[in-house]
Amino acid sequence: MSHISAQSPVLPTDLQAAVPAHVRVGALILAAGKGTRMHSETPKVLQRILEEPMLRYLYDAVLPLCPGRTWTVIGHAADQVRAAFPERQNFFIEQKEQLGTGHALQTAAPVLESAKLTHLLVINGDTPLLPQQTLAAFLQTALAADADLAFISLTLDDPAAFGRVVRKNGRVAAIVEAKDYDEALHGPEPREINAGIYCLKLASILPLLDGLTRNNANGEYYITDLAAPAAAQGLTVIGDDRGDAPELMGINTPLELVRSEEIIREAVVLKHLRNNVIIRSASTVRIGPDVAIAPGADICGPAELYGKTVIEPGVKIASHCRIVDAVIAENAQVHSFSHIQEAEIGPASLVGPYARLRPGAVLEEAAHVGNFVEMKKARLGKGAKANHLTYLGDTEVGAKANIGAGTITCNYDGVNKHRTVIGEKAFIGSNSALVAPVEIGADAVVGAGSVITTRVPAGALAVGRGRQRNLPILWNKGKPEKE
Ligand code: UD1
Ligand code: CA
Repeated sequence: MSHISAQSPVLPTDLQAAVPAHVRVGALILAAGKGTRMHSETPKVLQRILEEPMLRYLYDAVLPLCPGRTWTVIGHAADQVRAAFPERQNFFIEQKEQLGTGHALQTAAPVLESAKLTHLLVINGDTPLLPQQTLAAFLQTALAADADLAFISLTLDDPAAFGRVVRKNGRVAAIVEAKDYDEALHGPEPREINAGIYCLKLASILPLLDGLTRNNANGEYYITDLAAPAAAQGLTVIGDDRGDAPELMGINTPLELVRSEEIIREAVVLKHLRNNVIIRSASTVRIGPDVAIAPGADICGPAELYGKTVIEPGVKIASHCRIVDAVIAENAQVHSFSHIQEAEIGPASLVGPYARLRPGAVLEEAAHVGNFVEMKKARLGKGAKANHLTYLGDTEVGAKANIGAGTITCNYDGVNKHRTVIGEKAFIGSNSALVAPVEIGADAVVGAGSVITTRVPAGALAVGRGRQRNLPILWNKGKPEKE
């Protein structure tokens, strides 16, 4: 099944192929900040969008353009960011103290110099919606203009907390942060703002880094303070105005996070609809960017499908299901309110309503798992059924076995987990407790209400419960009816 991503098909895979030979472009993603305005302990770039860390969307856009030359500046909760992207191991640069976006660039400078780049794309890590096409087009604009410093700008009705672009005679003279903007000094407030995506010609811009100061409202080194001296020196500084593109606005607050998520959500759902997946109540369906769904599959919202989930042809998923990193094989049906994580649902299986399939749950072809059944590290063989109120943990169930209502595998003794093995066509009567480790042979029958603590041989009937006695009741006048 094809890989499905939130990003549309790629332009050039490696931009290097599309630029003059002497130009060597790298990318630097700034992701060291805490994201104070998110009011969360989670570093901002790990905030989740459709259950994927925000930074991952930016990698989708940037990595294909600059493979092998994309670095990320990390700092706040750096270990968490490293752990989230182990494959980026060799491309993290640590900014121990977060003294501003300019300081982040200063921190990265030695690595960039040794990589012998001519140009550097610098991208704020909190703009996950940045489309790859926009980035590629921006780079081409910057290169075509032979800009020393280019940046993407937006024109907004409300410039909010963004850096303001100050122009003189149409040319960029400076970028002034909102908190530092002074009409007396800088003129009437412009509506053009800095999106936080830059292209720097390193030979002319790196020498300006030493001149940055912390004389501003935040007491930080601002990357945006490079624009004024560059312009003053007569270098080419361009603002590439992209109107009011919502996908280029950074995420600083929970409101902005959720708005951005909604934009990506809608795009992903639309992509699947266009690929002929039936998605009912589409506005209530959330699908992660890596989820693969076959055309013709039928999903009813509200629903959540995340991770590397694969939905094969003919699958039906009723409303209120949450499915993460699971494979739902062809023609399987998942009824409402089922939670499925790291599980494999075999072809033509039936699941739910109200099933909970935890990691390692495997249903072979045409297996049935009914309401209020929980499975963990458990396999149901072909055609096996556990239809009601059951827990199967660390369990192997043979083909066509029938697990009666209320069956519990007692897999945990308080210290260790133990396995239960149930043979083909075995029949477990209702409300039985199977105390693991234990084995029930093929074709064996367990009487309802049994507590099974030792092996049941194949073909045997095991009854592990108190024998029923019928006794007279003292306060009843008559004797009990004759048996
Ligand atoms: C920044 C720009 C502003 C622009 C806006 C666009 C500056 C000074 N201002 O403001 O002009 O309009 O982005 O969204 O650059 N970071 C580090 N190290 C640090 C500080 C920040 O890596 O020491 C990273 C953050 O993790 C973040 C990015 O840089 O991903 C931008 O920082 P943030 O504090 O969000 O800047 P803004 O105030 O949004
Ligand atoms: Ca920001």
